[in-house]
Amino acid sequence: MINISKLLWRFKEFFLFFISSTTIYKIHAPFAFRLVQQVFEDKSTYYAFPLIESYRNQLKKSKNSIKKIEFGAGENPTRSIANLANIDSSPSEKGQQLFKLVNHLQPKSILELGTCIGIGTSYLGHANSTSILQTIEACPNTIKIAADTLNSCGLSHPQLHNMTFDNYIDQLHNSKTKFDLIYIDGHHNEEATLRYFERLKPFMDSQNCTVIFDDIYWSKGMKRAWQEVKKDDTFKLSIDLFHIGIIFRNNNLRSSSSFKLVKAAWKPWVNGFFSKNHN
Ligand SMILES: C[S@@+](CC[C@H](N)C(=O)[O-])C[C@H]1O[C@@H](n2cnc3c(N)ncnc32)[C@H](O)[C@@H]1O
Repeated sequence: MINISKLLWRFKEFFLFFISSTTIYKIHAPFAFRLVQQVFEDKSTYYAFPLIESYRNQLKKSKNSIKKIEFGAGENPTRSIANLANIDSSPSEKGQQLFKLVNHLQPKSILELGTCIGIGTSYLGHANSTSILQTIEACPNTIKIAADTLNSCGLSHPQLHNMTFDNYIDQLHNSKTKFDLIYIDGHHNEEATLRYFERLKPFMDSQNCTVIFDDIYWSKGMKRAWQEVKKDDTFKLSIDLFHIGIIFRNNNLRSSSSFKLVKAAWKPWVNGFFSKNHN
């Protein structure tokens, strides 16, 4: 059932986000500018995009359902595969942003918390097939579909782990594992998000690390979690895209900055459209 007050709250948050957001035309620091130009403003299409989307379309036509073991929300509903492909998986635009982010940053070791049926994993995996890619999903029925998705999308390197996020992090204990890109896309609540962030800190690369938080305006708690993670001063740059928030630790970042970003096309008046000396 749609929760009207939550919906209204999100509308209000989106409005506030939009009026305080910036565009590429106001970003001058070299690292941030290149990132925005090559990831969020880039319109290129890569060979993997139609491949993944055509497989998603096949799944959207599926008449099958599975019992979804929900670790984040507490219920075990029957879910149609079509619905998992449509609603729970990263939409194509977000998948493409993930792909371009990985393509731009070239991380060596990626962790995805929340595999679902493997759509996001496919985008991450295709962006750099030489990186190590670990993806975690507690629901055994869902991860089976993810394995088929990766196979059908021609990926064999992602390593699927059927366990809870906490159990996976427990397993890292005493290991030398260092991730340079982490995508937290499951169990969207304040306490859990902050716990995973805190518990993963020892396994983040100390020089270069990017952490992506999904659905930072899912709830008031998720918004508070986002405000909290941004306070970590080892991550000098944070970008709020409304549907996701990303924090960056990088040697090329000298001073701290934080901004909300929309595509330039959303705010044509910011790019100097009406001024004489735009270039
Ligand atoms: C939003 S979906 C992930 C979507 C996927 N990352 C993508 O980009 O297509 C979140 C998934 O996380 C899983 N999940 C939630 N909480 C979990 C937990 N504590 N441990 C393991 N898996 C969990 C859910 O079963 C669900 O399939």
